[in-house]
Amino acid sequence: MSKKTFYITTPIYYPSDKLHIGHSYTTVAADAMARYKRLRGYDVKFLTGTDEHGQKIERIAKQNGINPKEYVDNIVTWIKKLWKLMDISYDTFIRTTDDYHVKSVQKIFKKLYDNGDIYKSTYEGWYCTPCETFFTERQLNDGKCPDCGREVEKIKEESYFFKLSKYQDKLIQHIENNPDFIQPQARQNEMINNFLKPGLEDLCVSRTSFKWGIPVEFDPDHVVYVWVDALSNYITALGYLSDNEEEYKKYWPADVHLVGKEIVRFHTIIWPAILMALGEPLPKKVFGHGWLIIDGGKMSKSKGNVVDPKVLVDRYGSDAVRYFLLREVAFGQDGNFNNEALIQRINSDLANDFGNLLSRTVAMINKYFDGQLPEDKVSTDFDENLKKTVTETISKMEEYMEKLLFSDSLTEIWNLIRRANKYIDETQPWILAKDESKKAELANVLYNLGEVLRIVSILIQPFMPSTSPKVWEQLGIKEGDLTSWDSIKEWGKLPNNISVNKGEILFPRIDLKVELEKLEEAQKKAQEESVAKTGENKDQYISIDDFAKVELKVGEVLKCEKVEKADKLLKSQIKIGNEVRQIVSGIAQYYSPEEMVGKKVIVVCNLKPVKLRGILSEGMILAASDDNGNMVLVSTDKDIESGAKVE
Ligand code: ME8
Ligand code: MG
Repeated sequence: MSKKTFYITTPIYYPSDKLHIGHSYTTVAADAMARYKRLRGYDVKFLTGTDEHGQKIERIAKQNGINPKEYVDNIVTWIKKLWKLMDISYDTFIRTTDDYHVKSVQKIFKKLYDNGDIYKSTYEGWYCTPCETFFTERQLNDGKCPDCGREVEKIKEESYFFKLSKYQDKLIQHIENNPDFIQPQARQNEMINNFLKPGLEDLCVSRTSFKWGIPVEFDPDHVVYVWVDALSNYITALGYLSDNEEEYKKYWPADVHLVGKEIVRFHTIIWPAILMALGEPLPKKVFGHGWLIIDGGKMSKSKGNVVDPKVLVDRYGSDAVRYFLLREVAFGQDGNFNNEALIQRINSDLANDFGNLLSRTVAMINKYFDGQLPEDKVSTDFDENLKKTVTETISKMEEYMEKLLFSDSLTEIWNLIRRANKYIDETQPWILAKDESKKAELANVLYNLGEVLRIVSILIQPFMPSTSPKVWEQLGIKEGDLTSWDSIKEWGKLPNNISVNKGEILFPRIDLKVELEKLEEAQKKAQEESVAKTGENKDQYISIDDFAKVELKVGEVLKCEKVEKADKLLKSQIKIGNEVRQIVSGIAQYYSPEEMVGKKVIVVCNLKPVKLRGILSEGMILAASDDNGNMVLVSTDKDIESGAKVE
C-alpha cells in the first residue's frame, strides 16, 4: 500500500530583504507540521516560495537601478539561506518567475476565459500598491487603503475580470458544509458575515499599466493580476496543466494552507472560486494564524519595527528561536514578540528544565555506573505516575498537532519534562547511591530518566530538529528504530546497556541583563547594515548635490488675489530680485490676500511651471503644515532683500 500523503504550504513571500521574524513564524510552523507528519509516516510535500511579480517589485527594482529579475534573484538567494539557517525542510521552493509556473498560469487564465469565467471590461477603482490590491470606492477607509491605511491610486483601464460573484452561494455552502475548511472558527464567521453575505464583486484579474507580470497569452498587453498568479502556485508547483501531472494527482487537494490572518480572505474566497471555476477540488483546510506584534502594532517592514531572525539564530541557535515562536504564541492568535521573553524562555524552559534533565541524567549515569547502565530489574513507587504522564503526553500531542495547536503540544511536552525533574526529587538518586543494596533501584531510576529523555527527544523533533540528535548522541543511541514515533508507544525501548556520553550543554544559561543590551545593539547594527546593503531606503536620503538642485530664493508678495471657484487657491505676484513671477498656492484657508501682500516668503524658483485651474504658476511658496492640516508660511528669521538665495 502506498503511504498516506500530506500536502502543506506557506504563503509565497514577497521578495524583500527584510523577511522578518513574522515570516519565519509562518514558515517555522509549517515546517514543524511537515516534520511531524513525516515522523508519523506520511509522504509529505511541503511547499514554500516567493511571489515575485507586481508593480511594487517593478518600482523598487527601478529605484535600485536594476531589472526586476535581477532584484528578485538576489533576494531569493538570501531567503533560501535564511530558511537553511532555520532548518526549514521544504520539499519545493516555487518562484512565480519559474518557467513552469508562468506557463501553467497562462493555461489557467486561458481555461477560465474559455469557460466564460473571465471576461473583458473596464476597471475603474483604487489600487493600493503596497498591498497589491484593488478596492472599490466603498471599500476604502476615509479614502485610504482599508488594509494598511496608506494612500491609494485611482485607476481606470481595460481589464479582464473573473466572475467571482457567480460563486458566492456555492462558497457559502461549501464553508457551511465543511466546518474544518476555515480555521480557527472565528475567521470563518468573519468571512461569511463580512465578505460573502454582503455580496461579492467580480475581480479584476489583469493589468495593462505595468509590465512585470505574466503576460496573458492571447492578449499580451495584459499581465495577469497578482492574486491569480500567486494563488495558483499551490497547484502549478505540482505540475498542474503541465506535461506531468503526477504530483498534482498525488498531493492535491492540499491538506492545509497556512496563512496569516490578513490573507485568509484571498485563500478562502478568491482561491476556492478559481478552483471551482477550474473544476478542481478545494483545499481541505485554510488555517489563518495571528500576527507577531511588537510594541502593540503588527511587525512590518514599512513600519521599520522588524525583528531580524538571523540575529536571533546567530546568537541562540535555530532551535531556541523555533521553540520560542511556537511556544510563546497560541497559533491563531496575535502574540507579542519581545527579546526579554525570548531570553527568559531559553533560561527557564530550555536551560533549566530540559537541558538540566539531560545533563543531570547523563552525569549520574557516569558517576554511579561509569557511564554504563546495568539491566533494569526493579521499580519504584514513583514509576507508574511517570509512565502515565508519558502516555498522556503522547496522546495529547497527537490530538493537538492535528489541530495545529503547536503551543499546546509544547506545553504538554514540557509538563512531561518537569514531571521527570520531579521524579528525580522524589527518588533522590544521590541517597540511593549511598546504599549498596539500592543499586538496582538506582539503575531503575536512571534508566527511566533515560527513557523519558529518549521519548522527549522524539516528541520535540518537529520543533527542534537539531537538538534531538544531540540528545541521542549523549544517550548513546542511533537514529532509526529507537527514534521512530512507534518506538515511543511502548515503554522500555531504550536498550539496557547503553553507554552515555557527556556532551556539550544543550542550552547555556544567559545573563538576561547583559545579553539584552548586546542583543539590542546587534539588532540595531543589522538594521543599519540591511538598509545600507540594499539601499532600499534610498529615497529617505538625498545627497548635498541633490539638494543643491533646488533653487530657493526670498520673494516679496506684491499683489495677491483669490482664484475664482477654488476655495484653497491664492494667486500671487511675487518679486524675486529683478523679476516678478506669478505663483498659485493652496493656502487660501490660512491667509487672506490682504495679509499676503508685503510678506517675504521662500520660493522654489526652478520648479517646472504648471497650470493650476488654467492659471500659470511659476514656482512654489514654502509652507509648513502639521497633521491637523494647519499651514503657516516659511519666512526668514530677519528681514533680507528679495532675491536672496536660500541654501
Ligand atoms: O502576503 N506576524 O506575502 P507577504 C505573523 N505574497 N505573520 C506575518 C507577519 C507578522 N508580523 N508579517 C507577515 C503575501 N506575516 C503574499 C502571499 S500567497 C498566495 C501570497 C505573514 O510576504 C503574513 O501573514 O506579505 C503572510 O501569511 C506571510 O507572512 C506572507 O506575507
Ligand atoms: Mg502581506
